[in-house]
Amino acid sequence: MGIKGAFKRSQVVVVTGASAGIGRATAQLLAQRGARLGLLARGETGLEGAAADVRAAGGEALAITTDVSDYDAVEQAAQRVEERFGPIDAWINVAFSSVFAPFAEIKPEEFRRVTEITYLGFVYGTMVALKRMRPRNSGVIVQVGSALGDRAIPLQSAYCGAKHAVNGFTESLRTELMHEKSKVRVTVVQMPAVNTPQFSWVLSRLDKHPQPVPPIYQPEVAARGVLHALDHPRRKQYWVGASTVGTIAGQRLVPALLDRYLARTGYDSQQTDQKVRSGQPANLWEPLDGPGGDDYGAHGVFDDQSHAHSAQFWLTRHRRSLLGAGVLASALAIYDWGRRRLQR
Ligand SMILES: NC(=O)c1ccc[n+]([C@@H]2O[C@H](COP(=O)([O-])OP(=O)(O)OC[C@H]3O[C@@H](n4cnc5c(N)ncnc54)[C@H](OP(=O)(O)O)[C@@H]3O)[C@@H](O)[C@H]2O)c1
Repeated sequence: MGIKGAFKRSQVVVVTGASAGIGRATAQLLAQRGARLGLLARGETGLEGAAADVRAAGGEALAITTDVSDYDAVEQAAQRVEERFGPIDAWINVAFSSVFAPFAEIKPEEFRRVTEITYLGFVYGTMVALKRMRPRNSGVIVQVGSALGDRAIPLQSAYCGAKHAVNGFTESLRTELMHEKSKVRVTVVQMPAVNTPQFSWVLSRLDKHPQPVPPIYQPEVAARGVLHALDHPRRKQYWVGASTVGTIAGQRLVPALLDRYLARTGYDSQQTDQKVRSGQPANLWEPLDGPGGDDYGAHGVFDDQSHAHSAQFWLTRHRRSLLGAGVLASALAIYDWGRRRLQR
């Protein structure tokens, strides 16, 4: 069975961080093709909203309140998903948290907490997925990565460190799977700036409201990237958005120049003009979408500035057909040229 063929309509997929943002949008898209979904996050209100979205879109949902920094909880969640839906076909690691602050203003326990959620949460999800997929020699793990996992920026040291670490352990695992000729696939989707609730609920010590560095894309653009990777998981990495391509390519070509550029622009580009009170509630230790909390949904507060499509990723998704069409057009042109010459 080919990888693509494995993803039949009723695929069983676990999405971590499914209650909001990119995870929520990904669950909705998967539901539209009839997937049976294990939805993991901490906040019950957000998870209930995500499960309702999934059912309305035609999928099945099992919402499991889980803190991904707790290995046993993640393992138990995987067990519950398989008891309910059968073998897990795919596991998508999305859950994360962060602190927006200069490194010198982040407390050691905060740095550890971000690392435990944003790095170890991905490690634990990958471990429990592989434990099931390796003996079956089948399955796909998708890591939702970031351009900031290649190129770090100021005010997000804990996050950038964790995202770099996700790339590191995934690359190591990928070579191990290749070594043992496993059919289990692992791939990373490096995302651009996305309009999600994170900029309203992540712990921030900035004076002004945090914002994603433009250009900003809607979470559905990111979700389409995740689904494409899920269906074509042989590739090591996908880059979503022209800004991701520019950032990663720039880092490979002129990293020191980027250091100077980001030192100059990176503080302002990550904040709006809107002043915020210090001590705003944040989701680092506890969810803000728990019982009695709000359902934040997939979108953040930057709808009016966000792109609903990425031409760059459209080209990535259709590159085979475009190449095919190009080859066909060239062949026809050559044939036509040859025919004309013979007629002379
Ligand atoms: N938005 C962007 O600009 C952007 C850019 C590049 C990459 N990404 C990547 O995309 C992914 C999602 O980002 P996002 O912006 O969609 O985030 P988001 O809107 O803040 O949503 C984060 C999700 O993770 C869950 N979560 C947080 N801590 C958790 C924990 N300890 N255990 C389980 N679940 C937890 C949240 O729910 P609870 O709080 O209820 O648990 C929520 O469902 C991340 O991996 C991020 O690195 C985002």
